[in-house]
Amino acid sequence: MSRRRRIYEGKAKILFEGPEPGTIVQYFKDDATAFNNQKRGTITGKGVLNNRISEYIMTKLGEIGVPTHFVRRLNMREQLIKQVEIIPLEVVVRNVVAGSLAQRLGLEEGTALPRSIIEFYYKNDKLGDPMVSEEHITAFGWAATQDLDDIMALALRINDFMVGLFLGVGIRLIDFKIEFGRLYDDQDMMRIVLADEISPDSCRLWDLKTNEKMDKDRFRRDLGGVEEAYQEVARRLGILPEANVQDIKGGSSMH
Ligand code: TMP
Repeated sequence: MSRRRRIYEGKAKILFEGPEPGTIVQYFKDDATAFNNQKRGTITGKGVLNNRISEYIMTKLGEIGVPTHFVRRLNMREQLIKQVEIIPLEVVVRNVVAGSLAQRLGLEEGTALPRSIIEFYYKNDKLGDPMVSEEHITAFGWAATQDLDDIMALALRINDFMVGLFLGVGIRLIDFKIEFGRLYDDQDMMRIVLADEISPDSCRLWDLKTNEKMDKDRFRRDLGGVEEAYQEVARRLGILPEANVQDIKGGSSMH
């Protein structure tokens, strides 16, 4: 089988040229990094689980009218996506105090926020993804005011939907990070769509009863049981039944 052209390799995913123009194959690796690449490791089976979890969430979001880059899952570690121009922002939505918000403002982790908060970070590894305001975003032309309005409206709809989805399976959605892209149609009309992935790599998920962490914080903070936590998220969402753990561990494709 001929090797496809590799377009980009990130910390957790590789992008390959897709079968038709305007499509890309997104391959999920088991590699994990934290603190801007200072901590590195592998989480066995993570790529397989994140591929499925992201498929599941993006499909559900599509069903309620949120435009996404997702087309279909191809195999254990790959999904077909639409080629978009990534907007260089990490959009974080928070419902409960945790992580950098707790640090920056000296707040206690686990405190419910009076309302959901949206934050923007400029996607730039060299700079360590600094936090930016709408002023920076529009002044430097990373996104127009109208784009930002769309992004914020979508982010809040995504949050509302995901809070309910996870609550239904006994999980509290603390916060998450999403990315958006510009999708151009044949007439060169532009639409902003949800891109990248939504998975326990990019969300904070706490068990509703015990507050146990079920996300990448287990890796970041050396809490152990990382693989098991990702599996449990998939199991609760009902997307694990036919894939046993052995399939997941052996589930690499030809790359
Ligand atoms: P933070 O509290 O460290 O700012 O993280 C907020 C949310 O964003 C949390 O769910 C983890 C996620 N996140 C990423 O997906 N990638 C990143 O590089 C960072 C810093 C956070």
